[in-house]
This record gives sequence, C-alpha cells and structure tokens, in this order.
Amino acid sequence: MKRFDGVRVVVTGAADGIGRATAIKFAAEGASVLAIDINAAGLSETAAIQSGIKTLLADVTGIEAAEQICAAAARELGGIDVLVNNAGISHRAPIETHTDADWQRVLDVNLHAVFRITRRAIPLLKASGCGRIINIGSVMSQLSSAGMGAYTVSKHAIAGLTKTLALELGVYGVTANYIQPGAIVTGISRDVFAADEGFRKFWTEKAALKRLGQPEDIANAIAFLASDEAAFITGHGLLVDGGALQSP
Ligand code: NAI
Repeated sequence: MKRFDGVRVVVTGAADGIGRATAIKFAAEGASVLAIDINAAGLSETAAIQSGIKTLLADVTGIEAAEQICAAAARELGGIDVLVNNAGISHRAPIETHTDADWQRVLDVNLHAVFRITRRAIPLLKASGCGRIINIGSVMSQLSSAGMGAYTVSKHAIAGLTKTLALELGVYGVTANYIQPGAIVTGISRDVFAADEGFRKFWTEKAALKRLGQPEDIANAIAFLASDEAAFITGHGLLVDGGALQSP
C-alpha cells in the first residue's frame, strides 16, 4: 500500500523544476497524476521518468484553460483530490520602467490562472471529500526584492487567495495551503545560479542549511500537505527555504 494510492492529483507547470519533481513524487507514491505545461518536450520527459503520469499540453492563462484542465482531469483521472497550482514565471524590471505587457503576463500566469483553475476545480475538490489545494507562493509572498515588483505582487496575492480559499472551503473538508520556497535550482533559476556566482553564494550562505534547495525539497513538502497527516492544516504558508528567512 503506497501513501497516495487512489489519489487523483493535478500539477501545473510540470515540465521542469518543482512541478516535475512533484508529479514524479505523487506518481511514485501511487497517485494518478495529470501533468500540465506549455512545454511539450519537457512534459513528455516528465511522463517518461515515472509511470502513472498523464499529460495535458496547455497554457494555464488560456481563456479555456480551466475548463480544459478540469475536463481532462475528469476524463483521465475521474476527478481531482489534490490541485497543485505551480506554473510560474518571473520578470525582472523596476516599477518605474515596467511595461504593462510584462506586468500583465506575470500576473496572468502566477495569479489569474490560479484563481480561474481553482474556481473551476472547486466542485471536483468538494466532491472528493478530502480535497487539497496547494499553491506555490515564494519567500516573496512575505518579502520583496528591488526589480521584482510584478513577481512579488503575484506571490503576496497567492497568500491572500489561499487564505480566502481556506475559509470558504473548510466546511467541505477541503484544505488550502501555500508553499514558500526559498532559492531552488530549477528552470527559472538554474541559469542565473550558474552565471552569477555572487547570487548563488548569497542564497547559499543566507540559508541556515548552507545549500540551495532542490525541486525534491519542495515536492516533499507538497506531498506532506496533501497527505492525511496534514488534515488539520489550512490557510498556512509553509516556508521551505533552508532557514534563509531567519537571517537578516
Ligand atoms: P521552472 O521554470 O523550472 O518550472 C515552471 C514551469 O511552469 C515550466 O515547466 C514552464 O514551462 C511552466 N509554465 C510557465 N508558464 C506556463 C503557462 N503559461 N502555462 C503552463 N505552464 C507554464 O520553475 P520552478 O522554479 O520549478 O517554478 C515553479 C514554481 O515555484 C513557480 O510558481 C515559481 O514562482 C515558484 N518558486 C520558485 C523558486 C525557485 O527558486 N526556483 C522560489 C520560489 C518560488
């Protein structure tokens, strides 16, 4: 008997990084997984690594995306017990020169898609009887960094959205939590860590554990929040940052 036998899991942004590690973790522990991404090649790689992963090529910001994702989940998995809203992008620009288009793009992927997909998934999560919403925030859900305005706003909003979902859905036995990853080596960050020794050193030293995080560190925390052991945790933002935020 595996921990997630019979559990139906949807993971967005599963072609790389945290989403890929999460899809693999759930499937390896018995879940049926629907992995979603805009990157077809990466998505196929994810499914090739571990059996039990179905894929859906979709842009989470698409106008039909929420409908498409929930229809695929109903068809391929028979419903949704765990929704992991993970797809995300970042953009570096100071507010003074930020373009409307870049601002909109970051908010569309990191926030508006999460709202729309979750809204559409709520009836399925209610029907589950033990539904779990796990949103991927960031340490930027509580801090900021100059030049990261749109990203910071989107991740602060994820905190607010998740807390509201927790209050609205608790009565149906659905929990809603968000993870706050620290510096994790993934598609979003690996080039920056490779090219900028100072940046890599800053985050390595800032962490109490003196290392960068790996996607599996976050996947393990997501799996915990989806497990029976986390049944009384909701509205919570779990820092998984190696202790980075404990130092000034
Ligand atoms: P990643 O770049 O490795 O993975 C993100 C995935 O999302 C990619 O496969 C990408 O193709 C997909 N994606 C992007 N836009 C999409 C769209 N419109 N529709 C469908 N899929 C889309 O990056 P990572 O780090 O694994 O990111 C996952 C989440 O973790 C994001 O929400 C990110 O903000 C968050 N995070 C990452 C941190 C890090 O240090 N890597 C730190 C804090 C939060």
